[in-house]
Amino acid sequence: MQLSRKEIWLHRLEILDPRTLCKLTTRTLRRRRKDYRKIYRMTLRRWLLYHNKHIVFDECLWMGVSTLKNPLDAWIFQEIIFEVRPDVIIEIGSAAGGTTLFLANMLDLLGEGLVVSVDIDRSEFDIKHRRVKCVTGESSDPSTVAQVAVFCEDKTVLIIHDGDHNKPQVLKDLEAYSSMVTPGSYFIVEDGLVDLFKPNRVFGLFPDGGPLDAVEEFLERNRDFVPDRKRERYLITFNPMGYLKKVH
Ligand SMILES: C[S@@+](CC[C@H](N)C(=O)[O-])C[C@H]1O[C@@H](n2cnc3c(N)ncnc32)[C@H](O)[C@@H]1O
Repeated sequence: MQLSRKEIWLHRLEILDPRTLCKLTTRTLRRRRKDYRKIYRMTLRRWLLYHNKHIVFDECLWMGVSTLKNPLDAWIFQEIIFEVRPDVIIEIGSAAGGTTLFLANMLDLLGEGLVVSVDIDRSEFDIKHRRVKCVTGESSDPSTVAQVAVFCEDKTVLIIHDGDHNKPQVLKDLEAYSSMVTPGSYFIVEDGLVDLFKPNRVFGLFPDGGPLDAVEEFLERNRDFVPDRKRERYLITFNPMGYLKKVH
């Protein structure tokens, strides 16, 4: 007698009674769902705390290099880079360089462009890439700004700020670099979420405020930039109000 495909499958599983199979499967699925149920009950707030406490400093890597980034924000960076097609991406604050390498790899896919990495401390910086140029110094120091400006003349420029997150320093950097951003491109100010959570030891204490406070003050007196809130559509972002588009 020819067995049907279903019968062969049941036979292989050594469960010849479909009802028994059904019960077993349901039980397994339920057990699995129970595990996931706890995770799916997490609020966005709890997820952000979990990610910052347990993942970002130890287990978030791009091509094996430590990357202090929310992966959903990295996806948004990819979108912006594809749309803007920058000749130059200035990254203020690079740490180990995972994001620097990510940005260089995005430019590799587009076939052109440079990443200018600005950092005061190169002790952790661990990458080499032909598209990456390093400027080492305090970000708002006039000599640092001047060295960066050389790369930007007549170029399409995108800036990502991930340096000192204290409001006074973020404001200084916004003032020092905003004129370098090309209209239609972005000044991305990272980690404004610290202002949503403060005071909080998981995100650090910023007694004078952090990046979101700085952005709000900067926007009050600078009409060239608007926060592009559609870049926050995945809801989980480190950069609330941080995707600043230069409109003129
Ligand atoms: C949050 S980490 C950067 C993380 C990196 N962008 C990434 O995604 O992996 C901050 C970096 O900013 C640098 N930094 C802090 N204050 C700075 C300043 N005033 N000027 C230049 N770099 C600064 C620190 O040395 C550190 O490497």
